[in-house]
Amino acid sequence: MLINNNFEKLPESYLFSTVAAKLREFKEANPSADVIRMDIGDVTLPIPASALAAMHRAVDDMADKTTFHGYGPEQGYAFLRDAIAEGDYRARGVDIRSDEIFISDGAKSDLGNLGDIYAAGNVVAVTDPGYPVYVDSNVIDGRGGELVGGRWSNFIYLDCTEENGFKPTPPEAHADVVFLCSPANPTGVAFTRSELEAWVAYARRNNAVIIYDSAYCAYVTSPGVPRSIYEIEGAREVAIEVRSFSKTAGFTGLRCGYTVVPDTLCGFDPEGRKVQLRKLWNRRQTTKFNGASYIIQRGAESLYSEQGRAETEQNVAYYLENTRIIRDSVAKAGFKVFGGTDSPYVWMRSPRGEGSWELFEKCLREANISCTPGVGFGANGEGYIRLTGFNTREKTVEAMRRLAAMMK
Ligand code: MLT
Repeated sequence: MLINNNFEKLPESYLFSTVAAKLREFKEANPSADVIRMDIGDVTLPIPASALAAMHRAVDDMADKTTFHGYGPEQGYAFLRDAIAEGDYRARGVDIRSDEIFISDGAKSDLGNLGDIYAAGNVVAVTDPGYPVYVDSNVIDGRGGELVGGRWSNFIYLDCTEENGFKPTPPEAHADVVFLCSPANPTGVAFTRSELEAWVAYARRNNAVIIYDSAYCAYVTSPGVPRSIYEIEGAREVAIEVRSFSKTAGFTGLRCGYTVVPDTLCGFDPEGRKVQLRKLWNRRQTTKFNGASYIIQRGAESLYSEQGRAETEQNVAYYLENTRIIRDSVAKAGFKVFGGTDSPYVWMRSPRGEGSWELFEKCLREANISCTPGVGFGANGEGYIRLTGFNTREKTVEAMRRLAAMMK
């Protein structure tokens, strides 16, 4: 058989796999080095007590023939879809129904898999820098064109720079699919209501669909910053929203997220007839996915209880305090700092002007801290690095002490 040649066009390895491989190599050569991980956004707090108890009960359910669960609905169990519709949307005055919510094994899978429901010839707009899944998965699906000077010829790049506060405005050019992330990975900045309104208006003018990655919405603290794109009027006709339980409830290893495809959202067939995207996504999921596990979904459901809510809020507050410590420390050490107030990510560049990978190596070798090189998120990320607030308080404080010493 012939392979999908698009894989050959991609850089050899996915960003976070490259970082992990470099860390392994460094640890092999320096076994006594106590490296503090501040690269991938993996959490360190254990799952909340509410989720633990719910999952224990769910395990017991599986061991009893009267409560055993085999295959579940591919779209997710009603108990979780209802809890999300009520807790994340209706309680906040946003009109989303349970049957518009599709439970999955995480935001990353959905963001990559959504490419199944739109045509190979669509023009895709991506932020630069941005979460690499948007670019890589669309390249795999054949929408990238050729890689020229670090950029794919068929994409529209939405430049995120210091000049625009890392928040792009809609382009003149027409895109069919637009990937937006707010609060943004990796820059940590978040769209205000009026900025998001401009994007919804753009999508409506262009018959485009916004794929809105809202994995970090729980970190929003600034007034006037929407948590959901559906807070914007007219977004139900132009946006898909993707969310995750990873960064709020410690589900990075358990795997659970969800995608909202409103029934008012349509694409067009080649004859120009409107087609509901929800139907296509449902068809895709029923064909290729057998649902997230019952046990994990019970755990996720518990996060909407009073106790679950309080526990996830505590987790988010803990990580945000780490992020505040990082922001303050790196600013004192001379870095130019962005993000980190509505986000677990701090985006920064050194006063000495090193390249991203150079700074990565320096932090690793001289301070034994691992960061993510900004250029791994796109050409505009060159010269920046990203640190996460997801480590423990003790390690975050220690990492900042080492970073300050490195910069002396
Ligand atoms: C990140 O570090 O950007 C994220 O943790 C990656 C992910 O969620 O897949």
